[in-house]
Amino acid sequence: PSDTGRVLSIQSHTVQGYVGNKSAVFPLQLLGYDVDPINSVQFSNHTGYPSFKGQVLNGQQLWDLIEGLEANDLLYYTHLLTGYIGSVSFLDTILEAVRKLRSVNPNLIYVCDPVMGDEGKLYVPQDLVSVYREKVVPVASMLTPNQFEAELLTGQRIECEKDGREACNALHDAGPSKVVITSININGNLLLIGSHQKAKGEVAEQFKISIPKIPAYFTGTGDLMTALLLGWSNKYPDNLDKAAELAVSSLQALLQRTVNDYVAAGFDPQTSSLEIRLIQSQDDIRNPLPIFKAERF
Ligand code: ATP
Ligand code: PLP
Ligand code: MG
Ligand code: NA
Ligand code: MG
Repeated sequence: PSDTGRVLSIQSHTVQGYVGNKSAVFPLQLLGYDVDPINSVQFSNHTGYPSFKGQVLNGQQLWDLIEGLEANDLLYYTHLLTGYIGSVSFLDTILEAVRKLRSVNPNLIYVCDPVMGDEGKLYVPQDLVSVYREKVVPVASMLTPNQFEAELLTGQRIECEKDGREACNALHDAGPSKVVITSININGNLLLIGSHQKAKGEVAEQFKISIPKIPAYFTGTGDLMTALLLGWSNKYPDNLDKAAELAVSSLQALLQRTVNDYVAAGFDPQTSSLEIRLIQSQDDIRNPLPIFKAERF
């Protein structure tokens, strides 16, 4: 257990706004981590805007960067973090990278946000789903699916707490010792379910955090949430409850600030997706007030 680490973060980059690496790198740095970003795409802005322009990195180009690091003995990482991945060939190259990073550091922690969709809609090619399920989940150390993604990975519907806990158990059986379903929608409110299987075959320790839904739509929050969970769970490796409390408390303070700033500027926060106030929330990231509490099942 260590307070810090060296994170290889393979995610999207946008010139303007905060998604992917733009929403993950700064908070991890604030929490004391060295972060080396590989930008899987470079877009002008996130894809929720009417248009975007830019470049996509392919699997071979990702591998070139890994080989460049390896040639100089620079491949020692404590953590690998991945988010949105748009093609099977890129995901296969990530799997190669996991193998190579683990040959350098067998204790590498792979934190995988299996970004595939949300609210019943898939936004990656269908053939990625089986690659995540069959090849990625088995090598991940921590997984942070949303409700829909957890359903895709387990083949089970999640409609209540019990379903969420069972999905976590199924995911532990498949690989990762830590699973956080970052939100389940239950009658208009959000429920986070966390699960830590401390040893193979053991019953997992499970908890929930209730989060009132703010009537606004944000982008970059999933990527930020996974980064915060990585940051705090490494500082409290045996206490996923506490890590999740801190991550949720930071994120909710940031979302409240974001809404307040838009309202103060005369915008209706319900009319379009809001860009998060990441830089302005640095105190909430460094020293979150632990307002949101985990309840053990
Ligand atoms: P999920 O939706 O399951 O959390 P995701 O990957 O789809 O994961 P987002 O939808 O961006 O990512 O949500 C990430 C986190 O941001 C949620 O766990 C929740 O804590 C927070 N969040 C997002 N939108 C809201 C909202 N409108 N009100 C309150 N919290 C929100
Ligand atoms: N990456 C890119 C390039 C995006 O355009 C978006 C959203 O539009 C995201 C990631 C997703 O962000 P999140 O799921 O964290 O809201
Ligand atoms: Mg979501
Ligand atoms: Na998620
Ligand atoms: Mg997501």
